[in-house]
Amino acid sequence: MCGIVGVLGDHEAAPLIVDALKRLEYRGYDSAGIATLDGGRLDRRRAVGKLVNLSDLLVHEPLRGKAGIGHTRWATHGAPTVGNAHPHRSGRVAVVHNGIIENFRELREFLAGHGIHHETETDTETVALLTEHFLAQGLSPRDAAEQTIARLDGAYALCFLFEGEEDLLIAARKGPPLAIGHGDGEMYVGSDAIALANLTDRITYLDEGDRAVISRTSIEIRDANGRIANRPVKLIQLDSAQVDKAGYKHFMAKEIAEQPAVITQTLQAYLDGDRIRLPEPGIDFASLDRLTLVACGTAHYACLTAKYWFEQLAALPVDIDVASEFRYREPPIPARTAAIFVSQSGETADTLAALRYAQGKAEMIGAVVNVAESTIARESDIVLPIHAGAEIGVASTKAFTCQLTVLLLLALKAAQDRGHLSDSDMAEKLGLVRSLPGILNQALAIEEPASDISRRLSEARDILFLGRGIMYPLALEGALKLKEISYIHAEAYASGELKHGPIALIDEHVPVIVMAPRDNLFDKTISNMQEVMARGGRILLISDQAGIEQAGSGVWSALPMPTVDPLLTPILYALPAQLLAYHTAVHKGTDVDQPRNLAKSVTVE
Ligand code: F6R
Repeated sequence: MCGIVGVLGDHEAAPLIVDALKRLEYRGYDSAGIATLDGGRLDRRRAVGKLVNLSDLLVHEPLRGKAGIGHTRWATHGAPTVGNAHPHRSGRVAVVHNGIIENFRELREFLAGHGIHHETETDTETVALLTEHFLAQGLSPRDAAEQTIARLDGAYALCFLFEGEEDLLIAARKGPPLAIGHGDGEMYVGSDAIALANLTDRITYLDEGDRAVISRTSIEIRDANGRIANRPVKLIQLDSAQVDKAGYKHFMAKEIAEQPAVITQTLQAYLDGDRIRLPEPGIDFASLDRLTLVACGTAHYACLTAKYWFEQLAALPVDIDVASEFRYREPPIPARTAAIFVSQSGETADTLAALRYAQGKAEMIGAVVNVAESTIARESDIVLPIHAGAEIGVASTKAFTCQLTVLLLLALKAAQDRGHLSDSDMAEKLGLVRSLPGILNQALAIEEPASDISRRLSEARDILFLGRGIMYPLALEGALKLKEISYIHAEAYASGELKHGPIALIDEHVPVIVMAPRDNLFDKTISNMQEVMARGGRILLISDQAGIEQAGSGVWSALPMPTVDPLLTPILYALPAQLLAYHTAVHKGTDVDQPRNLAKSVTVE
């Protein structure tokens, strides 16, 4: 959600903060703001919309000073206005916040009882008002922040800056992550290590409930019980090139193109000759009766896909849940069940809450994450990194295919552990899996035809996606990707479900995208296509050459895919889903990397 930054530097802070915010803009872009101390005097600039508006403002109204904080906002409480933009200031304190202060109404009442009234619609303002209230009572900045934090309910990553305190930042974390960066005589705070990639590679992650008092040369961290906590300084290998577009027009285009390379990385991490090697402590699938897979959005569709693999290859029953529903449903978790949580960011609030619900109930908690230092990773028994590298485009692409790759490897391992796959069969399957990067490379050649077709798709108001069997989750992913970046209404159905209602939507204006490699279900899908065509519907068939030939000339358009073993089709067919969405959005001229109303890393419920 929102991104926060803090700098205690030896150089002008504002340009460093703007650069760091640029790396955090994927978290929200409703407004941005910076506060600095110039000769001890607190000043701030804020602007609605993207960071570039704040940069423009800073050209005309620069902010000087070597200490400062910054924020890029995804609005929760209050519209995206300058007044609601962070940093929030009250008297001598300015604060930036990511999260939600759930008891802000009670805090407002408490403050009103002391004659202090709020001026914005935000929950965060109460943090600044409360801190200033304690400062006015004579408390030191440190004690005022401490007293304030003690009264907060909800989720927060906070960074405080105080007038007259050129060498002090106070940071606190409950829920959303917070990283402290160590420079040479400089210190930084960031919502993640990516934000600080240009400043340092030495990072300390705050734990849940931690508070940090930071100066240029020291950091004192206390845990939720007020005890001094020693959190390690880690060397982060974050190539700042990872967060560049590398000549591509959009991050999303770069991340789609990177898939053959990053899947190679994923395979290297998990394959050891003809064996699948899991990180310690491993998973003994033979001892399990069930698996529960939980995630949100695209990661949820990765889980839906994996259900087919686990059930078909390993005869291991799988329950799938959307994370935001899981814990409220209060599902019983039977003995001998492992629960695996899939999340690119590793910080999604709903997925984390679902994980915490499963703790103590499931036999084992696993995390399939892209950010190995994330909260979801740290609270799991086994971390299964996907090795996709930084994903900046808000719409998930390479993380999805890397999640699928890891889940496929887990399903194969489960099949072997449970006696459904001999060593020689495993060797054969791994041979297929190893061919994946090459096949994806070859399939990237569909980019041009996909762009041509997308020009026509961009004129549609509604688009349907159909898929049968393991292609159904891919259809869901295709529809999600298209709607989130092109704003065209798109829905996905299991092909066989069409006639149970959605077929009423079909007319010549509604393109129907059918994702159907020629597999054992293909004939049935052909029948569903006929039902659409008989009603004037326009079919775009995504299939291999044999499938396209079998479908005949009645289809409106076709996108030919390489022929591959059915084991690999879900990962391969993610590519046309992504490319169609991407090019449709480009033709429509929407903001591909930062679609409206969305943010990456959804750290609120
Ligand atoms: C869609 C997309 C989202 C995320 C979802 C979960 O393109 O990116 O649906 O998949 O918000 O995020 P993570 O994987 O970070 O938990």
